[in-house]
Amino acid sequence: MQVEGSPYADGGGRSIWAAYEAVSGNIKDGSTNWVADDEYHRYAEDIGHMSELDINAYRFSISWPRVLPQGKGQPNEAALAYYDKLIDALLAAKITPFVTVYHFDYPDALQQQGGWLNADSSKWLADYAHLVASRFSDRVSNWLTINEPNILWGFGAEAGAMPPALKLESAQLAQGCHNLLLGHGRSVQAIRAAAKKPVKVGLPFAGTLSLPASNSAQDIAAARNASFSVEKRAIIPLQPAMIMMNNSWWLDPIYLGHYPTEGYKLFPSAEKLATPADMRLIHQPVDYCAINLYFAPTVKAGADGKPELVPDSPNAPRSHYGWAITPELLYWAPKFLAERYKKPVLITENGISLADAPAADGKVHDPQRTAFLNSYLGAFKRAHQEGVPLAGYFHWSLLDNWEFSQGYLERFGLIYVDRNTQKRIVKDSAFRYKEIIQTNGASL
Ligand code: NOJ
Repeated sequence: MQVEGSPYADGGGRSIWAAYEAVSGNIKDGSTNWVADDEYHRYAEDIGHMSELDINAYRFSISWPRVLPQGKGQPNEAALAYYDKLIDALLAAKITPFVTVYHFDYPDALQQQGGWLNADSSKWLADYAHLVASRFSDRVSNWLTINEPNILWGFGAEAGAMPPALKLESAQLAQGCHNLLLGHGRSVQAIRAAAKKPVKVGLPFAGTLSLPASNSAQDIAAARNASFSVEKRAIIPLQPAMIMMNNSWWLDPIYLGHYPTEGYKLFPSAEKLATPADMRLIHQPVDYCAINLYFAPTVKAGADGKPELVPDSPNAPRSHYGWAITPELLYWAPKFLAERYKKPVLITENGISLADAPAADGKVHDPQRTAFLNSYLGAFKRAHQEGVPLAGYFHWSLLDNWEFSQGYLERFGLIYVDRNTQKRIVKDSAFRYKEIIQTNGASL
């Protein structure tokens, strides 16, 4: 929904964003996603840009309300045909499609029935996953179930800062989280059951990991502890009060088959939800630990050895969004995740928003994004050299896109999009990215 535009074309249904976008103040610039990058009509041109940049894999999502206007039941053939065309064009360009089944655009019709609090919600997602896997798995081998469930549920149901804009208490938060995890597990099963060829499956999570202040064993242990402690969530300066933003409450069930027991202090009702049958369902074999990584706080070991936040210096560089620039995240996060979960780490998102604009020469000069690529990918390379198992890297994003509550105010693209004309301009950083791809990192 961040690039396609035309949500209602060819019989597409309403998503929970429609009502949210209509409330003044919810989207900073008052925009909607109705146009976005007009990818629905311009995908062929953009695949041309991917080829020009030697990009060999493209991660995109299928729109649930487009494909199933009522969220379940009768599929919309025209929508499925659109994704057929997109996938075929990618394959013709030798670009591997990575499909996210559900990326924040939830069908409004299902929300009207309680959304993720409905006891059937995990089955709705699995039925939809089965539908799209049946249709596309002859050509798509890489599948991602739910994008950032901690963001969609944390911001959507705890902070009330994205649709469905609820502010739930602990028991309902735990119930919805459990249903999302079940939805993931059932979808993994559904995708494998429908698959026409061998598939790889994962869940792209919004990683909120911490970095050690030094290479001392104590600081490294403190960073690891802060990264996986449910209660240490307060160490995350962004949304310190949000209990859904920690890693282990979501990831331990997926990769280890149980909730971290310290979390039962925050979610006492979850202990009853965690039946052996449910935990088996959630703990389906997956092929990689997929993670979205942008920035991280730094911590050190305090006097008692416990993690202590090291505040960023006031002059530390930040993105246009205000996010800290912390390249070492691409070293430490894969390392910590692979250690704990024993899976190859797939970076499904990493990037920076800047105030890009065309210069007098008609080009977009974005040296900060080039520096971002060099430093973050340099750290990623170091992880690889030290033997951390890695499955791949996706930059967020190909195009400047519609950034939800920020509307069009953040530009994350390697390619600039003119909001009035839809003209694409390949930014300078994209050419550096191409060089990194061509040399497979040797030029870092
Ligand atoms: C997280 C989300 O998956 C994506 O939709 C968003 O645009 C980027 N990260 C940047 O915030």
